[in-house]
Amino acid sequence: MNAAITGWGTAVPEGRLTNADLERRVETSDAWIIERTGIRERRIAGPGETTASLAVAAGAEAIKHAALTPDEIDLLIVATMTPEQPLPHTGAFVGDGLGLTCGSFDLGAGCAGFVYALVTASSLLTTSSFDHALVIGAETLSRVIDPTDRSTSVLFGDAAAAVVLGPNDGESFGLQAFDLGCDGSATGILGIPGGGSRLPTSPQTAAEGAHFVTMDGRQVFRRAVRAVVDSATITLERAGASPSDVDWFVPHQANARIIDAAAQRIGIPPERTVVNVDRYGNTSAASIPLALAEAADAGRIRTGDRLLLSGFGAGLTWASAFVTWGRP
Ligand code: ACO
Repeated sequence: MNAAITGWGTAVPEGRLTNADLERRVETSDAWIIERTGIRERRIAGPGETTASLAVAAGAEAIKHAALTPDEIDLLIVATMTPEQPLPHTGAFVGDGLGLTCGSFDLGAGCAGFVYALVTASSLLTTSSFDHALVIGAETLSRVIDPTDRSTSVLFGDAAAAVVLGPNDGESFGLQAFDLGCDGSATGILGIPGGGSRLPTSPQTAAEGAHFVTMDGRQVFRRAVRAVVDSATITLERAGASPSDVDWFVPHQANARIIDAAAQRIGIPPERTVVNVDRYGNTSAASIPLALAEAADAGRIRTGDRLLLSGFGAGLTWASAFVTWGRP
């Protein structure tokens, strides 16, 4: 199971949407947004930027960082809830942009998607002849948010981040334990109702805005804290570790209050929790690898550190991974 994380990369749009910008657009305030979410600004994709173009930029950086060339990648997984288009899958566009012809697929597990993809890629690498996998979380959530809905437009942003997984060469870096779950009784509290088999796109769905994200924020909040705490606790038990063994908690960056509440209940202090939600908002499947890459680039995460990654998202899905940082 334990393929090492040997490279990483990120891509965020230049465009910024600040709380002051939102104050001019909807009935909200900088103080409300900061108090309830901890978010100060988000990145928004420009006209030429898409989920795949951000994923290609992050993926190229990760391949280079791993000192590989594209032909050495054996598997590509793109975790996203904002695909390039309904068909083909986003991985096809990303593979083409990177010059890959290996197998690729998209993974849909909402904001828990990156950890699901990390677990899937690690497992495939250790049970196949594959050497290297590229795992990308990429989103353009600004394309599925109603800009006039203050309950969602303040929360989400656009970004992509990628990791390369590779052989351990006798070391034991990488995934040590994980937990995956989904409570499908909660499909109604967060989603995009239109555009699928259940409610195909029509002039009526477009007029009703059924292609936008709908969310019962209070319900998501309550369930998210519980899901993250339970999943993280199970994962630590499976790794034979305790909260004091966690050097860095890297949670899904949805809301500073959810992060604080979950970290406190798990028993991890703020100084060992990675938070960048203030600068990017919720970037769904990109949020955990973006936080991870930033902390690694800043020299905060170091070789041998033990990380607890934990995400939750629409479904309601959850996923946690206990990872030893480092590359042989
Ligand atoms: N500005 C000002 N007021 C607002 C705003 C806003 N942007 N949004 C809502 N309000 C109002 C509401 O209308 C409500 O007014 P009322 O009392 O008159 O009805 C009041 O503020 C309080 O609303 P609540 O929803 O109770 O506020 P809460 O403290 O729960 O915060 C929030 C809302 C930030 C959405 C919070 O519930 C939350 O973060 N939930 C989790 C969301 C989340 O993590 N989603 C992503 C999941 S991951 C994925 O897969 C995409």
